[in-house]
Amino acid sequence: MKTVTEFKKMKDKGKKISVVTCYDYWSSLIIDESDIDAVLVGDSAAMVMHGFETTVNAELEMMCYHITAVKRGLKNKFLIGDLPFLTHRKSLVHLMKSVDKFMKAGAQAVKLEGAEGNFELIEHLVKSGIPVMGHLGLTPQSVYQFGGFKLQGKDLYSGEKIFKDSLSLQEAGCFSIVLEMIPADVAKRITEELYIPTIGIGAGPFTSGQVLVLHDLLGMNKDFNPKFVRKYVNGYGLIKEALNNFNKDIKENKFPQTNESY
Ligand code: KIV
Repeated sequence: MKTVTEFKKMKDKGKKISVVTCYDYWSSLIIDESDIDAVLVGDSAAMVMHGFETTVNAELEMMCYHITAVKRGLKNKFLIGDLPFLTHRKSLVHLMKSVDKFMKAGAQAVKLEGAEGNFELIEHLVKSGIPVMGHLGLTPQSVYQFGGFKLQGKDLYSGEKIFKDSLSLQEAGCFSIVLEMIPADVAKRITEELYIPTIGIGAGPFTSGQVLVLHDLLGMNKDFNPKFVRKYVNGYGLIKEALNNFNKDIKENKFPQTNESY
C-alpha cells in the first residue's frame, strides 16, 4: 500500500499519483486490484450516490457509512475520507469527534476544504497523528458563495490568493492538496513551489497527480460532460444494454436455460 511518505517520494521523482473516488463495497473490490494509487471517499457521494444537487447535503453518518463499506473491500490502497459540510467549522471538539469516527470507520487520512480559518485546526489534527489533505480552488461546499460550480483563480488576485492558501496549508502540515477547477498555470506554479504533492481535478496537466470521480471516468452519467472529465468507458450505455438484454431474454423465454436451472 502506498502511504503519505510514498506520495511525497512520487512527487520528488516526478511520478504521477492517481486517485479515484469510491463509495461502496463492490467498486472498492475492483479498485483494490487495480493500479490506482489512492482512494477518496468523497462527499460527492451526496450527489453521485444520493442524488442531491450539491455536496452540502453530505452528513457525517452518510460519510462513515460509505467509508465503512469501501473499507470492507479495500485492503491495499490508502483511503482518504472527505469531511462533510461544516464539520471543521463547528468547533474543535466536533471536528475531533468526527475525525475519530472517520478513522475508526477505516479512513487513513481526512480531506477538508478551504484554508482561511483552518490553520490551527489542521495543525491540531496533524499533531494528533492524522494525515490531512487540503482542498483549494473550487471547493464545492462553498458552491453558493461561488455562484455555481465555476472555474476559480482566473484573475491575478484570486490566483494569488489560492497560491498563498496552498503555502499556508503546507505550513499547517497537509500531506497533499487537491486543486479543483483552477487554470493550469496557477496549478503549475503551486505544484512547483510546494514540496507536498498536488492532486488536480480540472486543474490541468502540471499537478503531481489527478483525481476523478469514479462514476465520471466510467461514463455513468450521460448528461454530465464537463471538459475536465475523460470517460474511459460508456458505463451508462453498457449497463443499459445489459439490462435491456436481460429484459428481452426474460420476455422471449430465453432466460433461464436448462443449464441455468436446478
Ligand atoms: O468529493 C469529491 O469527490 C472530491 C473530489 C472531486 C476531489 O472532493
